[in-house]
Amino acid sequence: MTKSSALGKIILFGEHAVVYGRPALAVPVTQVHTDVDIAKSSRAGIWINASDVNLHAELNTLPSDHPIASVIHNFLFLGRVSPFPNLEINISSTIPVAAGLGSGAAVTVALTRALSSHLNYPMSDEEVNAFTYEIEKLHHGTPSGIDNTVITYAKPVYFVKGQSIETFKAGQSFTIVIGDTGISAPTKESVEELRRMWRNEKARWESVFDKVAEISFTARRAIEQGHWEMLGELMNENHKLLQEMTVSSPELDKLISAADEAGALGAKLSGGGRGGNMIALVTPDLAETVSSSLKEAGARNTIITKIL
Ligand code: PMV
Repeated sequence: MTKSSALGKIILFGEHAVVYGRPALAVPVTQVHTDVDIAKSSRAGIWINASDVNLHAELNTLPSDHPIASVIHNFLFLGRVSPFPNLEINISSTIPVAAGLGSGAAVTVALTRALSSHLNYPMSDEEVNAFTYEIEKLHHGTPSGIDNTVITYAKPVYFVKGQSIETFKAGQSFTIVIGDTGISAPTKESVEELRRMWRNEKARWESVFDKVAEISFTARRAIEQGHWEMLGELMNENHKLLQEMTVSSPELDKLISAADEAGALGAKLSGGGRGGNMIALVTPDLAETVSSSLKEAGARNTIITKIL
């Protein structure tokens, strides 16, 4: 049997502006992951079992653009696998779907690595990343590539679309509380809507994206030098710009205010927005208090994570 896993992720700064070539910062979240195992099957075909999404099916019974089927079809094509082997593929995930934690990219990365190892078709990290980006494009329109990059390398990344990957390291570890609104919001939609607004008023939005770029740039230095007060302020500023982009929501704003009132150093939405998750920077002693306040303010779930 072959096994592979991939972690979830959060975007710390720069979502949406990253689609327009500005830098963004993303980090892995070790508390949530996708696990894939592959074994030879005694029945004919390639069987996929993903209980979390209630999927138990043979590959050829799924539409070819099904997110999981498309990974397998593209992999078999890339690896020129012939004849098709009989396989049992089990996929399980604790990463909430359509919530800004990278569930789609994590499934692709873990599944690709498991197939690559099971079918003896070695792939480098660069190849897994490029392959996952192609899959992301099939389902998300115009993704920047940040999700596949942070999930493939499982390290904090300072990401600029089309440039080679740059990782970074925190001067000291810091604590983030993630709050889930429980509202599933496809990133494709918020990205498309912002694109429509950008087409109508390019100069206005380019200047908003420039402000986000400045924030991401400064935030990287603040993280490397351990300037947490400043980092919190930068999160608040980034959130205001995301509100201006209309990608926040009343539920996200409520959680962000709750984090602020409970003593967080700063907070913002993370990912595509309109639902999904928000993040709050906290001192370690306040993590539990902020987490409880988020739940009281309606968070379906919270995760306390340390960024190293
Ligand atoms: O919703 P997520 O976590 O997949 O994040 C999307 C980030 C965006 O900048 C909104 C889109 C992108 O492709 O970078």
